[in-house]
Amino acid sequence: MAATSALPGLFSIPQYEERSRGLITIPAWEYYDQGCADDLTVRWNREALARIRIESRVMVDVEKIDTSITLLGRTLPHPILLAPAAAHMLIHPEGEVATARGAGAAGATMVLSTNSNCSVESVAAAATQPLWFQLYVSRDRAMAQDLIARVESAGYKALCVTVDQPVIYARDRSSRHADQLRLLPLPNVKNPAPGGLTQTSAGRSRSLTWKDIEWFRSLTKLPVILKGILHPDDADQAVKSGAAGIIVSNHGGRALDGVAATIDALPRVAERVGGRVPVLMDGGIRRGTDVVRAIARGANAVLIGRPYLYGLAVNGSDGVRHIVQILRTELEAAMALTGRTSIAQIDRTVLWPDKS
Ligand SMILES: Cc1cc2nc3c(=O)[nH]c(=O)nc-3n(C[C@H](O)[C@H](O)[C@H](O)COP(=O)(O)O)c2cc1C
Repeated sequence: MAATSALPGLFSIPQYEERSRGLITIPAWEYYDQGCADDLTVRWNREALARIRIESRVMVDVEKIDTSITLLGRTLPHPILLAPAAAHMLIHPEGEVATARGAGAAGATMVLSTNSNCSVESVAAAATQPLWFQLYVSRDRAMAQDLIARVESAGYKALCVTVDQPVIYARDRSSRHADQLRLLPLPNVKNPAPGGLTQTSAGRSRSLTWKDIEWFRSLTKLPVILKGILHPDDADQAVKSGAAGIIVSNHGGRALDGVAATIDALPRVAERVGGRVPVLMDGGIRRGTDVVRAIARGANAVLIGRPYLYGLAVNGSDGVRHIVQILRTELEAAMALTGRTSIAQIDRTVLWPDKS
């Protein structure tokens, strides 16, 4: 698959990042780019990936590379999903509907955020690939219940409950622009807090516990995936409580500054889960080699957040499509250069041995 774009000069995610920065308003850029507080963890996500060296292999027949995986009983053409991100209308007038079209064209599963500017139903109408829905549970539990019913009847394939943000930690950068960030629709949230985007956590439940997984499962037949797990004990508890999957995530550095990079948290979680449910990872994935690193350290698939937002800002749905296509093309090349022709062949031995 050739990584073609209608736009000249854009061949990589860093190039898209640079281009998008010139197009996005300062408040929106601060909102998307920030982690939180001093942006330590958001930086570590990238740095920790970049530190992991890879072993190349030669003289392997790499004529055919198969990037497909099976996830929750479904075959996907590649292991790259779109992570939930709030408020796509800040950077594109069609918002998540445009993103869903791009995801469809790229064969990517998109996870729609509770805090999307387009409704669950309108995004479902635009999608041609499976959708998952990301849930923030509100204090008003009946609201969450209604939303889950809407999501299920709109045909979403999984419920992804974000568990790492019962409260918002210091959002220095976007807080300065709170006034400009509030004028957006949030059609999946009843009675959004008056502070808009920067205050969407105000109505969020702070009392979720493991027993609530049972509650979710009583409300829906959809598989329940927990997003935002870093500790192996939490991962184990999630599986025992009935989660169908786990996403190792630090919310792209936006939940708690100072927590470990996700690529460093991943091996302990994957080991403890031991294949009982799929383990996904997000945070800092910008290159095909990053996908290889994550899979080698135990992920079944990865999600990208900011990268597809750069694509959306630069070129709408075609930009989203192109971002995924770039990453997939790089993944294929990285597999060929490490002598791997299928995702199942990517294991620890694709990484340079520790301590040498
Ligand atoms: C602008 C922005 C908004 C986000 N909104 C949400 C959200 O509504 N729900 C959620 O679970 N995660 C949200 N996230 C976190 C992403 O799902 C994902 O964990 C993170 O972006 C991955 O890191 P990356 O951006 O380095 O790829 C958001 C991230 C960004 C950058």
